[in-house]
Amino acid sequence: MYKIVRKRALNDSVTLMEVQAPHIAKKAKAGQFIIFRVDEQGERVPLTIADYDREAGTVTIIYQIVGASTKLLNTLEEGDSILDFVGPLGVPTHIDPNAKRVCVIGGGVGTAIAYPQAKALHNAGIAVDMIAGFRSKDIVILEDEMKAVTDHLYIMTDDGTYGEKGLVTNKLQALIDAGEQYDEVIAIGPVIMMKFVAATTKPYGIKTLVSLNPIMVDGTGMCGGCRVKVGGQMKFACVDGPDFDGHEVDFDELMHRNSFYKEREAADREDPAH
Ligand code: FES
Repeated sequence: MYKIVRKRALNDSVTLMEVQAPHIAKKAKAGQFIIFRVDEQGERVPLTIADYDREAGTVTIIYQIVGASTKLLNTLEEGDSILDFVGPLGVPTHIDPNAKRVCVIGGGVGTAIAYPQAKALHNAGIAVDMIAGFRSKDIVILEDEMKAVTDHLYIMTDDGTYGEKGLVTNKLQALIDAGEQYDEVIAIGPVIMMKFVAATTKPYGIKTLVSLNPIMVDGTGMCGGCRVKVGGQMKFACVDGPDFDGHEVDFDELMHRNSFYKEREAADREDPAH
């Protein structure tokens, strides 16, 4: 059993939990994930490791309360325990030791996955600019944490209620136009956002990494839900990734399949026997 030592609501639908899991904390690296199962009846759900504390032996996860499993997880409080907490899984994000300046982009709750990557780069002595996009001010998360590990933090909101109004790609384009030189761009968020970030950097030949955690279903390599074509080859995000070269990912096919899964999920919610 894995004890919850801290629980904090980051906004109305996103929660941070710090869990006692010393074996995972000892080995965890940015970009990796865990699979949790709340109880015997629960499904296995993958979640990115948002942070870890090797000394305290804790792992931090951040989740959006969207389905039955995250709803159930969110009923637990500090002092309660989670039945299964397995990891670290997935290939850690590759930190290029020659990179001097990297732009990390997070969209919505994807910011929780982008943050540990920004932190790992910062700890490796690389200058980090970060662009974090949210729908509006009330769902902005991790602002202080992001500020602490970046040279510049640009917050964008769709409705202009905080930071600058606009999309993360507007800001990225403006920074490139202003002459900022990035050795790499790392993007994590909705698939459509990652697609447009990759399209923005492609003409400039800026290496672009996308993290496909958002498309994972069970994280085991068996459900096939995270299949993605990369450079013409079929890959599984949970086994071969989650990070891939953004210029090689077939986003259109991915979005097509993703919408199929969403429709299917919605149908399952209406009629579980569907
Ligand atoms: Fe099921 Fe990758 S998430 S196979």
